[in-house]
Amino acid sequence: MTLLLKGGRVLDPSRSIDREGDLLIVDGKIAQSRSQIPKKGCPPGTETLDLQGKIVVPGLIDMHTHLREPGFEYKETIASGCEAAVAGGFTSVACMPNTNPVNDSRSVTEFIRTKAAGCSLANVYPIAAISMKSEGVLLTEFWDLKEAGAVGFSDDGRPVMNAGLMRRALEYASSLDAPVIAHCEDKNLSAGGAMHEGDVSTELGLSAIPGIAEDVMVARDLLLAEYTGAALHIAHVSTAGAVRLIREAKARGVRVTAETAPHYFILTDEAVRGFDTNTKVYPPLRSAADRAAIREGLADGTIDAIASDHAPHGRTDKEVEFDYASSGLTGLETSLALSLRLVADGVLSLSALIEKMAPRPAGILRIPKGTLAEGADADVTVIDPERIWTLDRALLRSRGKNTPFHGWVFKGKAVLTVVGGAIRYRDPQDRP
Ligand code: DOR
Ligand code: ZN
Repeated sequence: MTLLLKGGRVLDPSRSIDREGDLLIVDGKIAQSRSQIPKKGCPPGTETLDLQGKIVVPGLIDMHTHLREPGFEYKETIASGCEAAVAGGFTSVACMPNTNPVNDSRSVTEFIRTKAAGCSLANVYPIAAISMKSEGVLLTEFWDLKEAGAVGFSDDGRPVMNAGLMRRALEYASSLDAPVIAHCEDKNLSAGGAMHEGDVSTELGLSAIPGIAEDVMVARDLLLAEYTGAALHIAHVSTAGAVRLIREAKARGVRVTAETAPHYFILTDEAVRGFDTNTKVYPPLRSAADRAAIREGLADGTIDAIASDHAPHGRTDKEVEFDYASSGLTGLETSLALSLRLVADGVLSLSALIEKMAPRPAGILRIPKGTLAEGADADVTVIDPERIWTLDRALLRSRGKNTPFHGWVFKGKAVLTVVGGAIRYRDPQDRP
């Protein structure tokens, strides 16, 4: 199958390209990327799409997704998660291991890969657990998991409280050139809290998680990364303190990268006032000062990547009292639109934003993605920057309808998602 994407604004931060141009896709690869590719030179049967006014970027990569299968299929399946991914403009996702069973063995990693391949939607890269059942006691078989296809190691959802175990995890992962992805939370400080500790938690009378619960663990893990020389990736950064610590560590030459999620640069703990359990997430929505620091960290490069932390849950998980609700929000279908607000607000250039959503995640996960260079896999996302749309949770592809953004009006949307040269999503309103 051949596809000619014509006349769009091709924005490829991996090659510092931002110009009008055409892309020719043949047999799943980018065959040509030029300012003009004449139709008559293309193979017979080439499908041409006129993309004037649209932005053509390397397929977006969500490096932090929860797909819930095996075990929690009522929240999400690999198939429904991949449908949500391509609808949100993501051609690749890395999925966290907190399934049931936990992805702490070759068989679970292989199961995920086989299921994902059967869906033929987005590319799925499993992240394996650091410890068996993510209980923080026994390390998993890193080599075996890497060989089975795991691209990184994380006990995401839970911190590794044992510093000795974290040290060994960093050492083993380093010998395999795979990142350790840290969920930074000191359990003794967070102590089962339901929201951020501050004036709002006091007013609402909810148990609270102080920012220092994150900062303490970020500091520990940075020290361990420095000590071991291993590559550390810090997941879902939410505090000003964490941003400062990561910035300082980078200046010292520590091999650290970091991600944040859209809800941390869009919302604050004020959003919890209505007791909407869709605002319950770990780490929790923080203060306005934290949000400002996250934006600064994105702008100055301290925070390398934006990931959705897509955490779909069922109605029964969320339609309960705030204290008892599961934490997390569905993110794959809102991540791009929320992130485009950083461009509208002057925090990031469009190129810097796309860099944090494709080439940087690819680099951190060491996957051969995130570029529109000739010869690369034809994973392409097309964005309509002018498209105004309103989020209706009922229309989400994800099984998880748990979003605090229901009814929000957005500008900018993925309208075409091409994975391996095949169209996997096309916006219904955008068809000719
Ligand atoms: O809010 C969260 N939900 N934070 C996590 O770390 C895990 C995630 C989940 O798996 O639901
Ligand atoms: Zn997560």
